[in-house]
Amino acid sequence: MTEPAPTLTSSLASTLRASSSGATGYRAGRTAGPARVVVDLDLPGATINRHVYGHFAEHLGRCIYGGFYVGEDSEQPNTRGIRDDVVAALRALNIPNLRWPGGCFADEYHWKDGIGPREQRPRMVNSHWGDVVEDNSFGTHEFMDLVELLGTEAYVNGNVGSGSVQEMSEWIEYLTRADDSPMASLRRENGRDEPWKVPFFGIGNETWGCGGNMLAEEYAALARQYSTYVRDHADNTVTRIAAGANVDDYGWTEALMRGAGKPNFSYQAISLHYYTMSGPWEDKGSATAFTEDEWYLTLSRAVRAEELVARHATVMDKYDPEKKVGLVFDEWGTWWNVEPGTNPGFLYQQNTVRDALVASVHFDGFHRHADRLLMANIAQTVNVLQAMILTDPESGALVLTPTYHVFEMNKGHQDAAALDAHVLLPEEPRTVDGRELPAISASASTTGETALVSLSNLDASEARTLVLDLRGREVTGYSARVLTGESTGAHNSPEHPEAVAPVELTAIREHERGLEVDLPAHSFATVELQLG
Ligand code: AHR
Repeated sequence: MTEPAPTLTSSLASTLRASSSGATGYRAGRTAGPARVVVDLDLPGATINRHVYGHFAEHLGRCIYGGFYVGEDSEQPNTRGIRDDVVAALRALNIPNLRWPGGCFADEYHWKDGIGPREQRPRMVNSHWGDVVEDNSFGTHEFMDLVELLGTEAYVNGNVGSGSVQEMSEWIEYLTRADDSPMASLRRENGRDEPWKVPFFGIGNETWGCGGNMLAEEYAALARQYSTYVRDHADNTVTRIAAGANVDDYGWTEALMRGAGKPNFSYQAISLHYYTMSGPWEDKGSATAFTEDEWYLTLSRAVRAEELVARHATVMDKYDPEKKVGLVFDEWGTWWNVEPGTNPGFLYQQNTVRDALVASVHFDGFHRHADRLLMANIAQTVNVLQAMILTDPESGALVLTPTYHVFEMNKGHQDAAALDAHVLLPEEPRTVDGRELPAISASASTTGETALVSLSNLDASEARTLVLDLRGREVTGYSARVLTGESTGAHNSPEHPEAVAPVELTAIREHERGLEVDLPAHSFATVELQLG
């Protein structure tokens, strides 16, 4: 990774310095009494965009090949080569969008190599991920078929690093144009009459690194240029997503916001990438074998995601106070050392209770920043990094990960109105890695008739009783579920697929302030409320 040139203006730099991490990130208040989560049920805030629960599938390791796509001749039950069980599991999450084909792969992908008869498609080297030969058997038509099977929306990521403006322009024409234009006709020759809908289009990926090693100002100019030719054809309206910052590179965000070109903005969103790991880049830590210190370090780094969203949003506010440009956190999640014995370029890792809580903490932060956060995409959906689904390469068995269950338990937040959920704790929070890490994380939302409260007990070893202080509306009914495992490193496998799976939370009762709930150590729970 290269360092982009610092471009943050001095006035913005001092604004960001003045906002302490506590003011921008998650913080719990203090109480003399028992731990409480106070929810104002009658004060709905911004809508939590369902796209915050988005996904990402790259041509990387066994994500596409073997994960989503096994080919029509596979013994694995499939529809036109796409695994039926994977589709069914993801449909149960209501996945709102799927980003493809990368990642770093996007900037070396030439879409015309992935259309037409499969046996005639040219091959290429996937130089970022394992240096393997890609046969292009999964291309545009296969991806859009997958999108339709999943009942989701397409986020196609174009190639700036090694592609041309014309190539990108023709791709969106091929995908979305209805008449007899050259690309629409080519699509028909390849068997698809109706245009598809593509609401999201990425203008390159990590252009500060694998996507071309550019400087911020250079890329801002290219993003404007490429975006111009990603046209809205017929009734398809595209949100163009410029390749945004790595972690805390606020200068990159500022350069993109300066370059976005008001009043109509050349691109309508900019992205952000941040991964959670417990060690340095060279030794990110084991997915399953970790100490208690690493548990807390990981969660403290997960909490940092909210601080990043808040600070990038502060930069965006300066140029776009009306919040027309969306922030798209299109790569987030844990990145561990690969599972022993697997290809280092395939990024295959296990997924434990710790990953589940990393996810729940991210979502709590995302819900609090619903006003700017247009989308987020966990990396990645199947067999890569913090996956929802792991498939066994030999038996083909499918395993749902603890992270999958957080997405499922939280799906009621999609398109609901965020509610403030104030956490009050009797003890001082831990300080980890220079950051406060309160033992409880929470967030809430409402649809009007119902409310959903998400609760994470980040304590590795202590259970916790807490009061849900529910104000402003009558609660006429409730139900709760909890996700935990025997240890912080508990995970699912083909032999033990339900070692970490949600169960009904029965340790919940009425209380003068609302409800009282017992949360096991290292657990995630959701409480659904019926409102009168
Ligand atoms: O998700 C894996 C990789 O991480 C992506 O290809 C790239 O964008 C990021 O560096």
